[in-house]
Amino acid sequence: MKHNMRIAIYPGSFDPVTLGHLDIIKRASAVFDKLIVAVMHNQNKVPMFDTEERMELLRRTINNLPNVEITSFGGLLADYARQQDACAIIKGLRAVSDFEYEFQMALANRKLNPELDTVFLMTSAEYMYLSSSVVKDIAVHGGNIAGFVPAEILDDIMLRTRKDG
Ligand code: PNS
Repeated sequence: MKHNMRIAIYPGSFDPVTLGHLDIIKRASAVFDKLIVAVMHNQNKVPMFDTEERMELLRRTINNLPNVEITSFGGLLADYARQQDACAIIKGLRAVSDFEYEFQMALANRKLNPELDTVFLMTSAEYMYLSSSVVKDIAVHGGNIAGFVPAEILDDIMLRTRKDG
């Protein structure tokens, strides 16, 4: 660490950001000096929103959190974390089903970058079932996603699903 700031990275697809993500962002930003929300840009599956759009939706959502920065990354997270001088990766944990995969990634990332620890924040109970895939599925089928995503981005999702459907 070249300075005294404790920087954490919260990586993900954020396609799109949900209230569950926002909950983790708020809580992680209260624990670390700076939180970098990093949108992964080389995905295998075709996203609903491209990287720039996902970053813009995130920016609109977190506008009152001064120590949160929105970026994007490709390649290995462990390398990007080193580049950003981060000491921790933030992950949200929902059900036990998240555990095995996250456990594997945390160990692999620590092997790749021994100075990097993964910090797990338990989801708030009301967001236990929530994921970007669930949101997209409900929206595509005409359901109401108002309680699932930040109000600021609701119209963007509705518009996109209407255009594509
Ligand atoms: O929101 P997601 O899709 O569950 O996020 C997955 C993400 C971005 C956290 C994960 O795919 C990742 O870290 N990708 C970067 C590539 C990498 O470092 N892979 C090795 C991890 S062990």
